[in-house]
Amino acid sequence: MQRYNIFHQIHKGLRAMLYETAIKVQHADFWNVDETEDTIENINEVVRLFDMHAFHEDNHVFPAVEKYDPAIADAFEQEHVQDHLLGELLSNSIERWKNASIITEKAEIAREVQHAYVKFMVFNLEHMAKEEDVLNKILWRYYTDAELMAITGQIISEVPTDYVGKYNRWMMRGLNNAEITRWLKSVERNAPEYVFRSLFTTAERELPERRFRLVLEGLTEGVMLA
Ligand SMILES: [Fe+2]
Repeated sequence: MQRYNIFHQIHKGLRAMLYETAIKVQHADFWNVDETEDTIENINEVVRLFDMHAFHEDNHVFPAVEKYDPAIADAFEQEHVQDHLLGELLSNSIERWKNASIITEKAEIAREVQHAYVKFMVFNLEHMAKEEDVLNKILWRYYTDAELMAITGQIISEVPTDYVGKYNRWMMRGLNNAEITRWLKSVERNAPEYVFRSLFTTAERELPERRFRLVLEGLTEGVMLA
C-alpha cells in the first residue's frame, strides 16, 4: 500500500524553487545591476521560504519523530541548524552586495552570492532526500496516514496568509499533472469555494497552456457521468 508522504508536495515545490532560481542565477549578468538585483531578491525569497519550512518541521514533524526515536530527531534538528547557518551566510553576502557601491566590487560579491547559493541548494537537496528516506520510515511505522495528514493540516493552518500564495505557486510549478489534479480535487471537496478558486487561478497562471488543459480535463473527468 502506498503510504502518505508528508514531505512530498512541499518538497517538490521547494525543489522547483531551488532549480528555477539556480537557472536565474546562471543567466544573470553580474555587470547589470538591475538584473542582478532581481535575482538577489529571488534568492532572499528562497532563504525565507526554507526558513519557515524548517520552522514548521521543527515544531510539528520532528516532535512526532522524537517521541519514538529521539536520536534521529536530534540529528535532523542539527541539520536544520546547519541549514540556517548556510542561509545566514547567503544573506550576509547579499547584504554586502547591496552595500557595495562600485560595480567591480558588486560583480565580485555577486560571484560569492552565487557560490553561497549553490552550497545552500546542494545541502537542501540532500537534506530533503534524507528526510524522505529516513524520517518517513519512522513516521510510517508509528503513525497512520490520517494522523500524518492531520499534522499537514496543522502546519497549513499556521502558514501566514502572505506566504500561502508563495508556497502554492511553487508547489504548482513543481508537481506533475496528476498530482495537481488530485490536489485541486481534494481542495474542492474539503475547503471553502474561495480557496479552491484561488488555487485554480494559480494553476491557470503558473502552468503552460497545454498542461493546464490536461489538468482541467482530469478535473472534469467523470463529472458528466455523475
Ligand atoms: Fe527539513
